[in-house]
Amino acid sequence: MPCIVELIQGDITQIQADVLVSAANSGLRGGGGVDGAIHGVAGPELLQACREIGGCPTGSAVMTDAFGLQERGVKKVIHAVGPIWQGGGKGEAELLKSAYHASLMLAESAALKSIAFPSISTGVYGFPLEQAAPLALEVAGDFAQNHAKNLTKIIFVLFDQMGHDVFQALLET
Ligand code: AR6
Repeated sequence: MPCIVELIQGDITQIQADVLVSAANSGLRGGGGVDGAIHGVAGPELLQACREIGGCPTGSAVMTDAFGLQERGVKKVIHAVGPIWQGGGKGEAELLKSAYHASLMLAESAALKSIAFPSISTGVYGFPLEQAAPLALEVAGDFAQNHAKNLTKIIFVLFDQMGHDVFQALLET
């Protein structure tokens, strides 16, 4: 089955995908933004599972159960740690791509069929959306074409219209 990349505007916790990706911090301590929303619905067991893992390096990702999100058809949560933007000269682009790639590898190796990503690092971590979006789509497009065996759908869930427009314009070119 081919793997497609698609965009949705909205709240990722409302999306039915086998795995939702959270934009986490390296301590996996929970937080605001999309991480707060996912933990809010999944419940305290998710934070407990993160505590047991202990942490995750920037540019990487770990996977846990979905706890309260299971009622919505979500099987797993991937906690991906994107870089904090420091001007662009500190390897931020490679680290961002690596966080996406690590997440896709985890989903693929768990034989999951669909994955939903937020736009990692473009909130609190300050990565400019116009620079982050092409990197995210490049990794997803390459994975969909060359590596996906189980995955048939990679969804980017953009919280606001502006983010959706930026991703949409790139996907159309
Ligand atoms: N659904 C989809 N996207 C969302 C949602 C949602 N419910 N809520 C926010 N976004 P951020 P980061 C978008 O700040 O920059 C946390 O405290 C948001 O508009 O969530 O990677 C973590 O614990 C933005 O485009 O993640 C870390 O400490 C995107 O999600 C830190 O923030 C990412 O924004 C990570 O910062």
